Amino acid sequence: MDIAIALSPHSAIPLHRQLYEELRRAILSGRLLPQQRLPSTRELAKSLGVSRTTVTLGYEQLLSEGYLKTIIGSGTFVCAQIPDDLLQSTPTEAGEKAAHFPISLSQYGEQLAQTDLSLQAEPQAEISFRYGRPACDRFPLELWRKLLARYCRTDYQWLDYAFDPLGYLPLREAIALYLGRSRAVQCNSDQILLTNGTQQALYLISRLLLNTGDAIALEDPGYLSARRIFSSQGANIFPIPVDESGLRVAQLIDKPVKLVYVTPSHQFPTGAILSLPRRLELLAWAQQTGALIIEDDYDSEYRYGERPIPALQGLAITDSVLYIGTFSKVLFPSLRIGYLVLPKSLVSIFARAKWLSDRQLPSLEQRVLADFIAEGHLERHLRQMRSHYNQLRQVLVEALKRYFGDRATILGENAGIHLMVRLHFNLSDDEILQRAAKVGVGLLSAQSHYFSIAEPGQFIFGYSELTQTQIQTGIRRLAMALEEIN
Ligand SMILES: Cc1ncc(COP(=O)(O)O)c(C=O)c1O
Repeated sequence: MDIAIALSPHSAIPLHRQLYEELRRAILSGRLLPQQRLPSTRELAKSLGVSRTTVTLGYEQLLSEGYLKTIIGSGTFVCAQIPDDLLQSTPTEAGEKAAHFPISLSQYGEQLAQTDLSLQAEPQAEISFRYGRPACDRFPLELWRKLLARYCRTDYQWLDYAFDPLGYLPLREAIALYLGRSRAVQCNSDQILLTNGTQQALYLISRLLLNTGDAIALEDPGYLSARRIFSSQGANIFPIPVDESGLRVAQLIDKPVKLVYVTPSHQFPTGAILSLPRRLELLAWAQQTGALIIEDDYDSEYRYGERPIPALQGLAITDSVLYIGTFSKVLFPSLRIGYLVLPKSLVSIFARAKWLSDRQLPSLEQRVLADFIAEGHLERHLRQMRSHYNQLRQVLVEALKRYFGDRATILGENAGIHLMVRLHFNLSDDEILQRAAKVGVGLLSAQSHYFSIAEPGQFIFGYSELTQTQIQTGIRRLAMALEEIN
């Protein structure tokens, strides 16, 4: 069989590649038909005046891509269905496929489809008091790079799968020591499960401890992501109000709940610190009823002035607390490393669930973080950031007092990296936001964190990403914009 093939010995493209291209084109254009037999490598090499290796290489490429097949004893043939046919039958644009038939979701899928996951739009303003982030531009990036480099030069070990479902042991050990020192959490490294942030810790808790219809108590107002995780699991949610001493534990007492989720060190978003009497009351209630407490200690590292109250986990005399911490606020949110300190009896089932859900956290970041903590950088960074945020916080409090006087009530100023402020004006939240935007100030309302319609005028002021001047200017402009017609 003769195939018209033109090869150019002067081209920069190797001959075997040219042959491959020519044959592929012949197959696609139909000059070579499906199932058609090709000449042997010896015959074709002879007729083209090239080496047999050239032809063999060209054929091998077409064989590996599915254009040709060999039948032992018979020779080489064009495949009946060539790869390009398969590709052409794949739609190129999303949505081109005709509907197959209705795809039924799992109960979880159905529940999730009904869960509101919309996000409050972040203010795009010259001075934005958005909250929830540390000052990323103050992170010791150069140091982090050096620690990373240690593992990226000659260490190939971490590239492999890890086999410890709880996470990298030296990191768990470093966290156990750190938690004992700084939060009086009582645990050893075998009780720590490293998670993809608080988010995954809450998700695993809801998967493993809640059935559809099971009751859980949440703070009102409270952390929206937690509420969404639990409601997408079909939980029956009891909102419990919060005041200046944190969760109103007395209102929880008669609720038939299996779990309660709290942020005792710095209630989100009000900033209240759960008082010691209420902590003891909560622990006693859990002990009596068998309910479990989920303690989210998301930014407890930032405390100003007062002596810290130890974590609930450390105060508990029974295994009633699941303690969650995260590096999102003390280091940076995209690190996605958090930890769940578990009662011993729950460790194994949580490890299994974590393993099935995503196998492991990235090894490199776990190693770098373990060194960062063990070598003292975490606590040094924290000291610096605490002092930095403390100055910003004072500037914000002073500016609010100076420009608003008694038209602003400040809540939760002793901890964290945001304040909640009640603004007393005869304006709706939307009007306040619009006026702020007009003078280049971005604000976020606390409304979305409430279960029902909240009293208007409550805003969350994040200050961690701003400079002192920006804070002063922002508050002055806001006060002027709101005072205008009041
Ligand atoms: C109450 C609360 N918990 C935890 C987190 C942190 O979540 P993650 O560790 O998933 O980043 C936040 C972040 O804003 C929070 O507000």
